Amino acid sequence: MCEEHHVDEILSEETRNLEMARQSLIEEFQAINWYQERIEYTNDEELKHILSHNRDEEKEHAAMLMEYIRKHDKVQDDKFLHHD
Ligand SMILES: [Fe+2]
Repeated sequence: MCEEHHVDEILSEETRNLEMARQSLIEEFQAINWYQERIEYTNDEELKHILSHNRDEEKEHAAMLMEYIRKHDKVQDDKFLHHD
């Protein structure tokens, strides 16, 4: 899963899990962007409705991943509470 595949076997389980969660979060945000683009591009109201529903489900997935990351990465969690 690690981008640096040759170090995969030396990474801790915690690091590997957090990396998978962060990569999944990137993919959820990418999906939100793609759905939003298609919603604005199509003139078909039925398709627009379906895509809007799907986009909002991706937002739920992103929220679930953010919760996981906050729970398992205490520094990241603190940044939600205290930042410039
Ligand atoms: Fe998703």
